[in-house]
Amino acid sequence: MPKPIVFSGIQPTGRKHLGNYIGAIRQYVEGQDRGDPAIFCIVDLHAISVAYDPAELRERLYDTTAILLAAGLDPERCILFRQSDVREHAELTWLLSAVTSHGDLNRMHQFKEKSGKQRELASAALFFYPVLMAADVLAYRATEVPVGDDQRQHVELMREIARRFNERFGETLVVPEMRIPGVGARIMDLQEPERKMSTTGGTENGTILVLDEPDAIRKKLGSAVTDSGREVLRGPGKAGIANLIDILAVARGIDPSEVEREFEGKGYGDFKKAVAEATVELLAPVRERYAELRPDEAALEAALAAGAEKARAIAAGTLAEVRDRMGIGPSR
Ligand code: TRP
Repeated sequence: MPKPIVFSGIQPTGRKHLGNYIGAIRQYVEGQDRGDPAIFCIVDLHAISVAYDPAELRERLYDTTAILLAAGLDPERCILFRQSDVREHAELTWLLSAVTSHGDLNRMHQFKEKSGKQRELASAALFFYPVLMAADVLAYRATEVPVGDDQRQHVELMREIARRFNERFGETLVVPEMRIPGVGARIMDLQEPERKMSTTGGTENGTILVLDEPDAIRKKLGSAVTDSGREVLRGPGKAGIANLIDILAVARGIDPSEVEREFEGKGYGDFKKAVAEATVELLAPVRERYAELRPDEAALEAALAAGAEKARAIAAGTLAEVRDRMGIGPSR
């Protein structure tokens, strides 16, 4: 079996949380040798689809780059780059918009949610977000897209766009498969365990950041919501405990049932302490490495530039073919 061409996009928010780390970043790191190549793109062009500050965007982009490198993405083993450095993404977005219907974009849940009550005031960029995302993946003829469950509709649309393009202009693009990370894909807010951990929708105290100091991690886990029972078990009415069981299982690389067995007959206090220590151990190396990498912006830029060069070499080939098929520019 040939190796898959893996592509994923990462938002340039520096405030990555434990859910991002477990559900996405760690999977990227572990998956970087699975892909040939594995391509990871920091999506600054997507970030401008909602209100933002230009100077802040640059800072957060460096934060994100440094977090990814600190977590173990290795520019020698994968392609890590900044979306806007490869102009082909923007161009392909426009070309693909010719085979995307307005109705499809209107049906996107994320657009409806993010545009909110003031839909008329939402940027056209937000409306076009799924087309840019399709361009990201299709430019590399990626076969596999690891993303969270919330991106399912976007991946389905990009598959449809690829199919429509091929039908209309001839077999050119690859219809990618979605891959949802298994364990730990759903780390919940520690204070409101019915909702996913999130830096935008979640609670401050219920969200562990990758860059949190050990004491902050201990404090947040110490005050995590549990229930009036005393059993360290998953089950109805035990969303808080179940979430902590998952976190400990993932941090230690064991099965949740092993966690349940280990804490049989022990109280919530001991259990929470164990979860806190395991989480500190999981994140501390990333935070320390980040502190070394983040100040050297020239080195971060150099890593991104090298990644962009490799990415461009692939995307340019696809674009030349797409343009030719569409009758854009001189015939080849
Ligand atoms: N929309 C994705 C998210 O918010 C990020 C993203 C952009 C992406 N382009 C992509 C993910 C291409 C996978 C493939 O998580």
